[in-house]
Amino acid sequence: MKSQDVRKQFLDFFQSKGHLIVPSAPIVLKDDPTLMFNNSGMAQFKEYFLGNATPKSNRIADTQKCLRVSGKHNDLEDVGFDTYHHTMFEMLGNWSFGDYFKKEALPFAWEFLTEVLKLDKDRLYVSVFEGNEEENVPFDQEAFDIWKQFVPEDHIILGNKKDNFWEMGDQGPCGPCSEIHIDLRTNEERAAVSGASLVNADHPQVVEIWNNVFMEFNRKADGSLEKLPAQHVDTGMGFERLCMAIQNVTSNYDTDVFTPLIAKVEEITGLKYTSNEIKNISEEQDKTNIAIRVIVDHVRAVAFAIADGQLPSNTGAGYVIRRILRRAIRYGFTFLDTKEPFIYKLVAVLADQMGEFFPEIKSQQNLVTNVIREEEASFLRTLDQGLQLLENVISETKGKEVAGAKAFELYDTFGFPKDLTALILRERGLALDEAGFDVAMQEQKARSRAASEVSTEDWSVLVPGNVETFVGYDQTEADVKITRIRKVDSKKDGVLYQIVVDKSPFYSEGGGQVGDKGTLVSANETIQIIDTKKENNLILLLAKQLPENVNASFIAKVNTDLRAASAKNHSATHLMHLALRTVLGTHVEQKGSLVTPNNLRFDFSHFAKVTDEELQQVEDFVNARIQEQLPLIERRDIPFAQAVAEGAMALFGEKYGDSVRAIKFGDSMELCGGIHVNNTAEIWSFKIVSEGAVAAGIRRIEAITSDAVKKHYANQEVLLNEIKLSLKNPQDTLKAVVALQDDNAKLKKQLESLLKDKAKNMKGDLAKEIQEINGVQFLAKQVDLNPEGAKDLAYELGTLGTNMFLVLATAEEGKPMLSCYISKELVAHKNLNAGLVVRELGKFIQGGGGGQPFFATAGGKKAEGIPEALVKAKDFLK
Ligand code: ALA
Repeated sequence: MKSQDVRKQFLDFFQSKGHLIVPSAPIVLKDDPTLMFNNSGMAQFKEYFLGNATPKSNRIADTQKCLRVSGKHNDLEDVGFDTYHHTMFEMLGNWSFGDYFKKEALPFAWEFLTEVLKLDKDRLYVSVFEGNEEENVPFDQEAFDIWKQFVPEDHIILGNKKDNFWEMGDQGPCGPCSEIHIDLRTNEERAAVSGASLVNADHPQVVEIWNNVFMEFNRKADGSLEKLPAQHVDTGMGFERLCMAIQNVTSNYDTDVFTPLIAKVEEITGLKYTSNEIKNISEEQDKTNIAIRVIVDHVRAVAFAIADGQLPSNTGAGYVIRRILRRAIRYGFTFLDTKEPFIYKLVAVLADQMGEFFPEIKSQQNLVTNVIREEEASFLRTLDQGLQLLENVISETKGKEVAGAKAFELYDTFGFPKDLTALILRERGLALDEAGFDVAMQEQKARSRAASEVSTEDWSVLVPGNVETFVGYDQTEADVKITRIRKVDSKKDGVLYQIVVDKSPFYSEGGGQVGDKGTLVSANETIQIIDTKKENNLILLLAKQLPENVNASFIAKVNTDLRAASAKNHSATHLMHLALRTVLGTHVEQKGSLVTPNNLRFDFSHFAKVTDEELQQVEDFVNARIQEQLPLIERRDIPFAQAVAEGAMALFGEKYGDSVRAIKFGDSMELCGGIHVNNTAEIWSFKIVSEGAVAAGIRRIEAITSDAVKKHYANQEVLLNEIKLSLKNPQDTLKAVVALQDDNAKLKKQLESLLKDKAKNMKGDLAKEIQEINGVQFLAKQVDLNPEGAKDLAYELGTLGTNMFLVLATAEEGKPMLSCYISKELVAHKNLNAGLVVRELGKFIQGGGGGQPFFATAGGKKAEGIPEALVKAKDFLK
């Protein structure tokens, strides 16, 4: 059975059992500060378990793109070395939200595996929670009794808290679980050692395929468990492992999920991958296999993350993605000898293979390909640079071991991986001080951990069961009650209180727009709300202090000036989005957006610099829409399908509900939850202030509106007046500037030729000062020239012999500069190198530089160091 069919069978089965089939949530999570990536099928349903939101069906099933590379569930370092862990994998899941429980869930699972897929019952083992006294959770007798109806007792294994009590993170919904494992070994192996003894023992062919979690508890911040308001089922089955079981192979990488990707790597590199069935392979082949597994695994994670809107970057989730890609590049570089970008070529294979079920990988194929290629090219350059630096480190190393701190510096600043350093050192007969490296790494980790430490207390609930509503589209003020409060202490922001009210007029940061600021006012006090954020479905008002009486009645007041300014920038963003698609083409898609009261920033896909004319057209387009005074047409709660059919733009990587809000100004129509002007006339004016690249194929425009435009032009006017004044108020300013530039160019030319003459004249005098030392013609002298002149002079003097070693110093306008010239003969036979000379002598003028072995320069900061540098120059001749 093909993997495509396995997926379909699963969804069809659960549909037949009354489940609603939903699409996978994006791999990158928004609105959940406790998780960076979706790490399990249930992450998008967390709020249903906690009772903060209601699902549209109490039976749901799907396949979820998951990434386990950070936080509590992190498999990254295992990937490639074994045959059954992945960074990105698909999790098939079925859920009951307060509906069925163990009695139905376990028989569903059994029926699907043994009757639909017809897996051999004898190869299946199940596990049940043995109980835990400390947690006060008993042995799961119920699950045990249910399983006894289907499997012999020696196929039921009792498991401890580590294996059979599932938790998503340090906090949140959790509960005992029951896993299903499969034994894929040969009959002989099975006869020799029982499968039961290998369950949960990291055996590559006795693996867990399905986990059924019985969600009953919530883990609180203090570590204690509380009962959830209802009982739920959360299951997760590893899609790739299931395919392995069904396709009768013993490695996930031998299933058709991976074989097309592997074939492509083989084609590109000319190397061969050996399937898991082939035993006794050489050490060399093993390394090739590992590298190929790393690459075909990682490209999936990276490609899907980019398709869902997460570009590689230097912080947060973007950095995790960058590191995964770099890990793949590096394995290719070291073990497959790939010195050119190639991973991007796998994206087409992936799109072919998975595009039908996950359309985002097809529609974003171009962008994903370009971003990966660019990342590869730039990391390969880094590797190259790193290699050069490593050469320096090696040349400075005395003894056989390279300091760990040095290797760590390479790793930290250039992303130059430790094992690559170690490998190269080994090739050179040197070793890496690994312990020293680890110490430096630990120190750095401790530093960054300390900087990002956050402690979050549990909610204190003032009004239980209250579901909050957002009233901010219609009101900027509301009479409210506080329903819950939580204290958060972070190194970054200090102590902050998160306040939830029953109905919030405050808009929470989202869709690019920053959160509202404002006040909570009671009869006796006023609390400043410094920001508003969202966590899952809760709107959190952030304050530095709590009201003394939290039970009082408050008026929640939004700062309307700031909000109005944001609204103008947000509506202008929509108009600009349409303008870009009109002027540049419909390949333009939003890739990021920031809307603040001060300005707007918009990232979008486009593969060339936007020209000045195009920018002008975009600006004109938006200003024309402003002048047309287009009224806002806001449609709340229209069905998603209808909105899209009417032409509303939806964004990739954004999760939309069944009913959505559409914002329309003339021809611009977008799905959007943000705050907008009532009429485009309110924007007054729109001005682009910058355009540039943020990543391969992604451009960024920054723009301003309204008062900021007025201020912008006022500033320009002041500047122009200052320029006029400094030019003594000419009739025609532009003409005056051009004349000045012309004059300047003429003078420069004259000066250059005068300096050349001067250098020539000096040549004769200086030639007399050249000394012979150890058979080398040597001169080290400060000259009154500019650096260019000194270079000319050095070359001139260089023609006087075949063994010249010259160091000339200049200090034009107090800036010290050293130039070193060494005859090619000397470079070749005396092992002298001008680059090294200036690097050493540069230290005396607090500077550095480089160049070629026969000519190099170094600039510095300390002109007083010149005499000493000139004296020391002689040392090179010893
Ligand atoms: N949430 C459970 C898991 O991820 C099913 O294993």
